[in-house]
Amino acid sequence: MKTRPCNFILYFQIVTFLVLFVGVNSQLTPNFYLKTCPNLLRVVRKEVQSAIKSEIRIAASLLRLHFHDCFVNGCDASLLLDGNSSTSEKFTPGNLNSARGYEVIDNIKTVVENTCSGVVSCADILAIAARDSVLLSGGPFWKVSLGRRDGLVANFSGSSNGLPAPFDNLNTIISKFQDVGLNLTDVVSLSGNI
Ligand SMILES: *[C@@H]1O[C@H](CO)[C@@H](O)[C@H](O)[C@H]1NC(C)=O
Ligand SMILES: *[C@@H]1O[C@H](CO)[C@@H](O)[C@H](O)[C@H]1NC(C)=O
Ligand SMILES: *[C@@H]1O[C@H](CO)[C@@H](O)[C@H](O)[C@H]1NC(C)=O
Repeated sequence: MKTRPCNFILYFQIVTFLVLFVGVNSQLTPNFYLKTCPNLLRVVRKEVQSAIKSEIRIAASLLRLHFHDCFVNGCDASLLLDGNSSTSEKFTPGNLNSARGYEVIDNIKTVVENTCSGVVSCADILAIAARDSVLLSGGPFWKVSLGRRDGLVANFSGSSNGLPAPFDNLNTIISKFQDVGLNLTDVVSLSGNI
């Protein structure tokens, strides 16, 4: 994998196909970067800790970035891709003027690249940062399975229609969660973060 920022835009869709194809049989595991980036978890934890120290609310925002990324075509960091107001997931109603913390993720990515270049996906960084945000806010710990590949295209309509909205009623919210394999416990855990 070549080193690139998380908001990189790719114009050759054939590469998307290759990445998806190669990713088909991979299994996520907490040890995915054990040899290639042994300090990853320490580095991310330190950066999340310092972001929370500057602004306590960022913890909720980082969890929400992971949640809104995973809701659309899975946890592939497509939410981070730049584009315009009809292509980038950053501009959909569920994210525009409310998704925040992008610069924290970019910053973590830079530090991670300085530690082990070209190895760790942005999608995995989002997943670890979300776990650390929950943990450092007094929530539970879980082992984060790793080895996600970054998507190279955004899904504007999927993000516009699929994300739960603050004006959705409870049944709609429950059904949007069910659409992505999440249950009532997940609705309760994440709905304050819609
Ligand atoms: C957004 O970008 C796409 C793809 O590059 C382009 O086709 C479209 O015209 C752009 N739309 C606006 C509103 O700039
Ligand atoms: C975009 O997201 C929608 C809703 O999740 C899904 O039905 C659609 O297949 C996705 N489109 C692409 C190109 O992945
Ligand atoms: C939802 O799924 C989680 C994980 O599989 C499980 O622990 C939890 O009990 C489930 N909640 C409900 C309401 O089914």
